[in-house]
Amino acid sequence: MYIDTHCHLSKEDYENIALVIKENRESGIEKIIVSGCTKDSILESLEYAKNYDDVYVTIGYHPSEVNDITEEDLLLLESQITSSSKVVGIGEIGLDYHYGKKNKELQKEIFRKQLALAEKLSLPVVIHTRDATEDTISVLKEFPNVKGDIHCFSGSVETARIYIQMGYVLGIGGVVTFQNSNLYKVIEEIGLSSIVLETDAPYLTPVPYRGKQNSSKYIPYIAKKLSEILNISVEEVEKTTTLNAKELFDLD
Ligand code: NI
Repeated sequence: MYIDTHCHLSKEDYENIALVIKENRESGIEKIIVSGCTKDSILESLEYAKNYDDVYVTIGYHPSEVNDITEEDLLLLESQITSSSKVVGIGEIGLDYHYGKKNKELQKEIFRKQLALAEKLSLPVVIHTRDATEDTISVLKEFPNVKGDIHCFSGSVETARIYIQMGYVLGIGGVVTFQNSNLYKVIEEIGLSSIVLETDAPYLTPVPYRGKQNSSKYIPYIAKKLSEILNISVEEVEKTTTLNAKELFDLD
């Protein structure tokens, strides 16, 4: 059975949430970890975690949200985390300079506060980093006790090695199935030991469904691609990545 370590689940994207969960089970997806990373999606994802056994969540404020985050919001986040046993991590949090660096000091400040919270609560983090690798690594190094997952990893072999050395695992999703992706080079170098599978649904749908809406049920296509790259069985990919996910997020 598989674990989708990072996806988004919202009524805005899926008409029938119960059907999504049912299709996941039919496709061999045992658990999904939904990321609630805005004030609204945190509330919505906590609701699904309460209603569905298979749904776990990571919650935290995405870098695109930081302009609206107050001290009260951070206190609220802490109480939301500690009041649900289905919260298995904090995220996605991080740095995103893709649309400019104007608020990068504020992004770093909110990032640090959430990393400090992860340290305090002994929870793993799910990291979003875009056009900000250097700053992300240097902020993460300030919190050597915090471990986590570099969500939707897309960097070089060198960058992969740095994160792994710091105790992080890499979240690999649909991008690895894209024809123009160079991620296979990273996979070939580092193998499976530091990899978890994710879809980032409803985005980044793997081939052969690229262009359509993504869903956790497509995780096996990502596993199949990894098995081809590494010349091993799909079962081995399934077993190892599920174990990696269970270890990081402390799941049964
Ligand atoms: Ni995401």
